Amino acid sequence: MFADRVLSGMRPTGSLHLGHYHGVLKNWVELQQEFECLFFVADLHALTTHYDAPEIIEQNVWDMVVDWLAAGVDPAQATLFIQSRIPAHAELHVLLSMITPLGWLERVPTYKDQQEKLTEKNLNTYGFLGYPLLQSADILIYRANRVPVGEDQAPHIELAREISRRFNHIYGKEAGFREKAELAIKKLGSRKSKVYRELRNCYLEKGDNEALDAAKSLLDEQQNLSMGDLERLFGYLEGGGKIILSEPETMLAQASKMPGLDNQKMSNSLNNTISLREGAESVRNKIRTMQTDPARKRRSDPGDPDKCPVWQFHLVYSDDKIKDWVQQGCKSAGIGCLECKQPVIEAVLAEQQPMHERARMYEDDPTLVRNIIADGCEKANQLAQETMRDVREAMGLNYS
Ligand code: TRP
Ligand code: SF4
Repeated sequence: MFADRVLSGMRPTGSLHLGHYHGVLKNWVELQQEFECLFFVADLHALTTHYDAPEIIEQNVWDMVVDWLAAGVDPAQATLFIQSRIPAHAELHVLLSMITPLGWLERVPTYKDQQEKLTEKNLNTYGFLGYPLLQSADILIYRANRVPVGEDQAPHIELAREISRRFNHIYGKEAGFREKAELAIKKLGSRKSKVYRELRNCYLEKGDNEALDAAKSLLDEQQNLSMGDLERLFGYLEGGGKIILSEPETMLAQASKMPGLDNQKMSNSLNNTISLREGAESVRNKIRTMQTDPARKRRSDPGDPDKCPVWQFHLVYSDDKIKDWVQQGCKSAGIGCLECKQPVIEAVLAEQQPMHERARMYEDDPTLVRNIIADGCEKANQLAQETMRDVREAMGLNYS
């Protein structure tokens, strides 16, 4: 019933590197061409773990937006905004918290995992427990149905789905819903009413999903029903009441193959990154001094690419011809490691070239970035208010 809408967020807790580019941003750039996209800076989520270091967040918010723009995220195609500038995220979070069983939050795997991993921080807080609920609010408030995230985030999207169902179940029963839905069916005209009823029965009695899909597409084609009636008919199809919050789906991004300089995952905490807009000299230095196969102590020692982090970079950046050259040359000691690294250096610099170019104008004039975000926040705010109106009404908060 709602058009496809993609939403994703990123926490501003450190500078972006090539791992983010290959794992997330390249994907966003593709998605923005196909779907309506909302991308936001998840600064409230950053505070759940960095509540004692607000300066880190402040510093990274704007740099991160410039990195997005550098990577090719296009404000003419996608809406870019900052989470905390849309207070309705916090409002929906608090409203959803009323119906969220504690156990649902405690059993989200990231809760215990992160507490165990980040032992230097006290994550025994209300905010941290609520992290995935805040994320649910982010998603549900825009009625986003597609959420591109990494595998680790899948349980959070699952929670958002459960919360939306629970919300609809509790609040989707407007007074006289059945009667109103029956009236709306009549408005379909006699032939389509009949088809609608048959398909609905088929689904409700036999669980026939094809019938459900057919009924949904019948509704999709309706042009002369009000939004309210349409929503009722969609809700009535699945039994109970109105769909106020729609269920999102995960779009699993394939894991990035981008390794760090040391063959572990590229990550700020491991100090093994090349940042998105890193200067050419620094890129050259980092790659030149990168670890190679420890067995190649001398130029004349043969090596094994499988034991060398540089090879992982070739897998990302090099064509078959270069890869053959590396395999042969390494195993026969026919090439030196510096020689071997040269095509990688060139490929990384070539990848960064358009990013530097796109970033330049924003680096020179930070107000451009402020304006993009101001526009995005205005749009996001409008969308959020549409949902909040329904949510407040459903929860009995629209006193006049
Ligand atoms: N938790 C996400 C991450 O760490 C960031 C995020 C916050 C997010 N809100 C979101 C992602 C909503 C997708 C949708 O990567
Ligand atoms: Fe690694 Fe290349 Fe040196 Fe072989 S030649 S050890 S693959 S850098």
